[in-house]
Amino acid sequence: MLVHLVEGAIGELSTSSPSIFVFGASMVDGGQNAAAMPLRSRADFDPYGIDYFVKPAGRWSNGRTFMDLITEGLGYGLISPFLQSIGANFTHGVNFASSGSTASNTTASGDSSSGLFCLLVQVDQFREFQAAVMSSQHGFKAEKNMRQQFSESIYFFETGHNDYLRADVYSDGFDLNTTVLATISAMRTAFQTMYSAGARTLIVMNLTPLGCTPAILSVTTSMSMDLDENGCNAYWMEITDTHNACLNGLLEELRADYPEAEWLLFDANSLFLDGYVNPSKYGIEYPFQACCGAGGPYNYNANVDCGAEGKTINGTYVAWTKCEDPKLHLIWDITHPVESFSYYVAKGVLNGTYLTPSLSLMERVESLKSAKEERGGLAFS
Ligand SMILES: *[C@@H]1O[C@H](CO)[C@@H](O)[C@H](O)[C@H]1NC(C)=O
Ligand SMILES: *[C@@H]1O[C@H](CO)[C@@H](O)[C@H](O)[C@H]1NC(C)=O
Ligand SMILES: *[C@@H]1O[C@H](CO)[C@@H](O)[C@H](O)[C@H]1NC(C)=O
Ligand SMILES: *[C@@H]1O[C@H](CO)[C@@H](O)[C@H](O)[C@H]1NC(C)=O
Ligand SMILES: *[C@@H]1O[C@H](CO)[C@@H](O)[C@H](O)[C@H]1NC(C)=O
Repeated sequence: MLVHLVEGAIGELSTSSPSIFVFGASMVDGGQNAAAMPLRSRADFDPYGIDYFVKPAGRWSNGRTFMDLITEGLGYGLISPFLQSIGANFTHGVNFASSGSTASNTTASGDSSSGLFCLLVQVDQFREFQAAVMSSQHGFKAEKNMRQQFSESIYFFETGHNDYLRADVYSDGFDLNTTVLATISAMRTAFQTMYSAGARTLIVMNLTPLGCTPAILSVTTSMSMDLDENGCNAYWMEITDTHNACLNGLLEELRADYPEAEWLLFDANSLFLDGYVNPSKYGIEYPFQACCGAGGPYNYNANVDCGAEGKTINGTYVAWTKCEDPKLHLIWDITHPVESFSYYVAKGVLNGTYLTPSLSLMERVESLKSAKEERGGLAFS
């Protein structure tokens, strides 16, 4: 059935340049949750998207996400979310990322606005897309060409944040190692499945310093938790660092087990931490304060989200406000970066500075494009 639904769109998957397939959660969601459940995602309301799209675009940002900026940097424009049924354009790839989703199977489906599709469900969505594309190829040569297209494509993963944000990390019974192992194990399964499906260039983003985000800092005071030397929540930095160390181990393991693939780490943690610790390098004045939120020292109030209706709380009316100049902030809301900081994040991937092993995505895509052109040329000679 899917083949009929998306025949037009899948027929467009271009073989003249490597495609990009995106998996993960809200930092890179390109409208998947908003398409699946219109007007339930918080990012589907004013003031989301206001500074670029001028209206909400299903993205947790005042404008574009760093994934939008990466695909634009590659000359691909914006990549449609898998579930977009109106006007989707899959010429250069598909975005499967779903806000609120976890790597573990804990958010496979849901009745709320977030966490609709956990990582393994996204991987299954990819496989459905791939099967539909393959079945639309006619003849051995076309099929071979398309298989090569999938093996030369770029696969990007931003996953894991919500496995901790949604866990009961403050309860006495919480065991960090157990949660880290479950999260990493789900990621391993997803990556192995993608490898089996033909993925050979996989870029895996690590966790950003959650302890420095307005959402976490605002509970730090109320729960009298410790701050570290950078003014970030020490316990949450330990959570982040423990996950990231284990992720490095996973990538080492995958490099050894599957040497035919490139397993790249995108060290977003270092980039974001540099933003929090050296804000002036990025033109930022308020690194710890959200641009959009409902007040308090970090402009974050868990009772009234950015974009939500105001509420009377203990006799006081609380409403969100949007800062005057988002560029002076690192965070737009909760944990998500503003568009201006996202430029630096995108650049760190495009120029390769923050990828290990180092790889300029920009140069890779350019050289694959030329190689494809030459091959295409040969076929006609
Ligand atoms: C889809 O996007 C590509 C690249 O941005 C563009 O060249 C193409 O015209 C678009 N297709 C449709 C049907 O809009
Ligand atoms: C997660 O989902 C996958 C795919 O549906 C399934 O094979 C696996 O058993 C599930 N894992 C857990 C822990 O439920
Ligand atoms: C968690 O794992 C680390 C690293 O393997 C280990 O040093 C630590 O003792 C473990 N903590 C618990 C509570 O098991
Ligand atoms: C309202 O005030 C009471 C008493 O000070 C406090 O316990 C409660 O947490 C407050 N409610 C909210 C939503 O802040
Ligand atoms: C690459 O990107 C990073 C992150 O934005 C930036 O700090 C660095 O200056 C860039 N390097 C070059 C050579 O453009």
